[in-house]
Amino acid sequence: MFSPQFRARRIRGNETFRRMVRETSVSANDLVYPMFSAFGSGIKKEISSMPGIYQQSIEHIVAEAKEVKALGIPAVLLFGIPVRKDSVGSDAYSDTGIIQETVRAIKNEVPGLAVITDVCLCEYTDHGHCGIIKNGDVDNDSTLKLLAREALSHVQAGADMVAPSDMMDGRVGAIREILDENGYDAIPIMSYAVKYASGYYGPFREAAESTPQFGDRRGYQMDPGNRREALREAAADIEEGADIIMVKPGLPYLDILRDLRNEFNLPLAVYNVSGEYSMVKGAAERGWIDEERVVMETMTAFKRAGADIVITYHAKDVARWLAN
Ligand code: PBG
Ligand code: ZN
Repeated sequence: MFSPQFRARRIRGNETFRRMVRETSVSANDLVYPMFSAFGSGIKKEISSMPGIYQQSIEHIVAEAKEVKALGIPAVLLFGIPVRKDSVGSDAYSDTGIIQETVRAIKNEVPGLAVITDVCLCEYTDHGHCGIIKNGDVDNDSTLKLLAREALSHVQAGADMVAPSDMMDGRVGAIREILDENGYDAIPIMSYAVKYASGYYGPFREAAESTPQFGDRRGYQMDPGNRREALREAAADIEEGADIIMVKPGLPYLDILRDLRNEFNLPLAVYNVSGEYSMVKGAAERGWIDEERVVMETMTAFKRAGADIVITYHAKDVARWLAN
């Protein structure tokens, strides 16, 4: 009778042994929780396509931030919905803008929780693009100045880290320069270095009210078919001073995450985006999948592919499941 030399089942058949040889683990320390802050008071409006995720006014944001901290999640990533939008996204770099006010409130009331801010203009422009428009297109270099002002203003309000998501060329350098000139050389930049033009951002645009009013973002976000280009994008941002580089979306781009892990030695983040979340929640609500199992498997996949940091709307649930 043939007897296999390699019997994987000797180890695999026993939960204690499985635990001893497991190569990848997920911890609450790995997670970042995104939040959507809105002006006003008493506002807590669920995003219809993202069950459990809300646009909320500052007092509710602070309350949830306390919960996040208590769960052992080290950081939140903030997005803002301004009262008024205009062609140049003025609220983005106003000292009394939605993010600036929110950052100050969280830093005052939830000490020890890191606050990362998304730096982009699309939530603040009336046309919904990530930069300012000239001759019908997003103008790269004049946008850089505004992004730099926005990042500085977030940091002056108390942000611990800034995360530019606009995909303009040169923005990491522009932000690094203005922060350094103003004495903020200790503030890190987490760059959305490799951000694809993706259908998976659909629910986010409802949450952030940032759908482009004309055209799309393919002129500045990456083409989903490109793999080598991701390495160039990441290398450029590292050269300009990025401290952490991100891949976004997550699950459809695990190969890219692994490529970056193999190529660079910086901390790597992955953004498990809104559409990924909505699909899981939608299927779980119908009883088609086991939510906890699928989400934990997904988190493990991100870590296994090379991520150090996972930005996810599931963060609070993951932290709770890990604690059980
Ligand atoms: C803004 C921004 C987007 C996301 C993060 N920052 C949307 C976009 O580029 O259209 C997407 C996040 C998500 O889908 O969860 N530039
Ligand atoms: Zn944007």
